[in-house]
Amino acid sequence: MSWRNRIVVNSAGSQSANGGSIPPCATKKRYWEKRKGQVYLLFLTWFDRLERMDIMNTKIIKIDPKNIDMGILKEAGQMIREGKLVAFPTETVYGLGADALNDDAVAKIFKAKGRPYNDPLIVHICCLADVNRFVDDIPGIAINLGRYFWPGPLTLIMKRSKAISDFVTSGLDTVAIRIPSHPVAQVLIQEAQRPIAAPSANLFTHTSPTSAKHVIDDLQGKIDMIIDSGEATIGVESTIVDVTELPLKVLRLGGITFEKLKEVTPEIIIANEDDHLKKAPGMFKKHYSPKAKMIVVEEKNDEMVTSVLRLASNFRDLGSRVGIIASKENAKKYFGFQVKVLGEARDLETCARNLYAQMRILDDLQCDIIVSENFENRGLGRAIMDRLHRASG
Ligand code: TXA
Ligand code: MG
Repeated sequence: MSWRNRIVVNSAGSQSANGGSIPPCATKKRYWEKRKGQVYLLFLTWFDRLERMDIMNTKIIKIDPKNIDMGILKEAGQMIREGKLVAFPTETVYGLGADALNDDAVAKIFKAKGRPYNDPLIVHICCLADVNRFVDDIPGIAINLGRYFWPGPLTLIMKRSKAISDFVTSGLDTVAIRIPSHPVAQVLIQEAQRPIAAPSANLFTHTSPTSAKHVIDDLQGKIDMIIDSGEATIGVESTIVDVTELPLKVLRLGGITFEKLKEVTPEIIIANEDDHLKKAPGMFKKHYSPKAKMIVVEEKNDEMVTSVLRLASNFRDLGSRVGIIASKENAKKYFGFQVKVLGEARDLETCARNLYAQMRILDDLQCDIIVSENFENRGLGRAIMDRLHRASG
């Protein structure tokens, strides 16, 4: 047993198991017990940053999702069982997977990404029947949402069971569960015979990877294997819904649109910044960022174009290398600038699919500043705007 396994960060045990009222002194004590665990996790994060990481030989393999080579996925599954790190495709973004039941393997994820231990991970499973193993008290609405949207780009936050360790949940009493629909992810989880803990396979706070190249750029030499299955079809991360209390809250907008969720559960709302502080330790204000400084203009239509042109020209005059993110319709209006197109403004699926790749290309072109148009606040446009705002910090 490693030194990590001896750490007790338990908050699940310190919750009121019977749901009854708790005296104020107990609440205070409970608060400090919970914080103690989180302070410990921060200490571990800094400790890890001091440690030198050896450069590993990362095996890169190609798998055609339409014609899956089972032999290779057997090997990848075996690697997960051996506590190794395997980056794999999902329909949203590439994930960095490890055995969710092995603390040492999970710790390696945090190390490779440079991610703080107080930012919990999503547990990926392959079927609804497995939810019972990792969740206590599955609410009826979760089963409903699961039936509608799984397998797919939805993550549900539920009360965790004891089967999941504090390392995965960062000491929270909840666990994030997702059943991805990508055939390679599905088979990998089955072959691993384990739940797979996986964040997006990028360096901490960097833009999420939508292709194996993005994973290679961030993590080659730090992980054991990268499975290359082409580009992610959705391109933004899963939608995260907290189903532990009513009203249900969307903690992160993503691949399942708010409108679709509302059709199934009309009372659902989008969490505000306060909810994020309480419920979503990983929803940092600055996130999903390219290396360049991002600016998103808020005006609409012609004023938006004028504003983009004014900002881009000002920065260029100051000597900065400027990139622009725009819709296909407006791209020509930015003649003379380095413009990256997401798609037609009304085709928000295409725009979402291209968002991270275009941000990364502008980084590769050494842009200092990226000025971005805004996109419609509906459907996947909400997730695009959320990511653009977070990328701009
Ligand atoms: O599409 C996706 O969700 C991708 C693919 C690989 O599945 N994964 C992903 O993971 O985006 P990650 O770690 O990059 O983002 C997951 C977010 C983090 O902000 C984390 O803080 C939050 O989910 N999260 C995880 N467990 C949580 C919990 N118990 N309560 C609240 N938020 C949680
Ligand atoms: Mg991420």
